[in-house]
Amino acid sequence: MKIVVAGATGSLGTQVVEAVRAAGHEPVSISRETGVDLISGVGLTEALRGASAIIDASATSSTSTKASIEFFTTVTRNLLAAERAAGVPHHVAISIIGAAKVNANYYAGKAAQEEILRAEPDGWSLLRTTQFHEFARQLVGHGKLGPFQGVPQMRSQPVAATEVAAELVAIASGDPRGIEPELAGPQEEKMSDLVRRYLAATGQRRPVIELSIPGAWGRGMRDGSLLPKAGTRRGRQTFDEWLATQSR
Ligand SMILES: NC(=O)c1ccc[n+]([C@@H]2O[C@H](COP(=O)([O-])OP(=O)(O)OC[C@H]3O[C@@H](n4cnc5c(N)ncnc54)[C@H](OP(=O)(O)O)[C@@H]3O)[C@@H](O)[C@H]2O)c1
Repeated sequence: MKIVVAGATGSLGTQVVEAVRAAGHEPVSISRETGVDLISGVGLTEALRGASAIIDASATSSTSTKASIEFFTTVTRNLLAAERAAGVPHHVAISIIGAAKVNANYYAGKAAQEEILRAEPDGWSLLRTTQFHEFARQLVGHGKLGPFQGVPQMRSQPVAATEVAAELVAIASGDPRGIEPELAGPQEEKMSDLVRRYLAATGQRRPVIELSIPGAWGRGMRDGSLLPKAGTRRGRQTFDEWLATQSR
């Protein structure tokens, strides 16, 4: 089975490509690095030819409400149109637990992406998860404040991207089912603690300062809106187990 992975070079996408192979399928990688632009649509129709499913693991690094909505709506519309043209029967998307409720900044883009899919009569599946363990690494890449590391005040129950990737491939291998049961990590953590542990484990010496982000975005991160509800499925790998797999 040919499975297209959009955002194939990202934190999740690289794991999805591996999971597609591990499941005995053929991955087709999409990113600007592979010559396909999900915003302009260049190269998209050709990349989708003969595919049975597409897993959309693309993302913007922008946290502005306008840019995030623009990115996720344009990409989703372009993908759905190209899938129709190429006869791809299954669109698999990933969103974030609580994003539609917070609906601000980056999460406004995820809410808009979800809305587009929910308006489609069929042909799609959507998995919502918590932050990945890799989110701590992503924050380290973006939040340097001079000699300090800025981290938003945030409650999170992070999950292994490898487990999310395997789940997305299992979903893509079956029929479209709309909204899938959500998937969270094994335990709640404070994001500033995770970043501290990540910095220490990777030999980086930088004091971490917690930032109280203003507005609905920051409130959503602080108040537990992004945490799973009781009874949500939980992944197995803890943050510390993941950290032990990261080399310096
Ligand atoms: N990170 C988390 O903790 C987390 C948690 C839950 C859900 N999610 C969701 O999971 C998905 C993946 O997130 P991530 O953190 O893995 O993203 P990421 O690491 O930032 O990767 C983004 C990917 O999108 C590609 N991309 C960006 N713009 C593109 C364009 N115009 N055309 C083609 N490809 C483009 C990038 O490749 P190029 O730059 O080479 O184009 C890259 O492969 C997103 O939908 C995100 O909302 C993330």
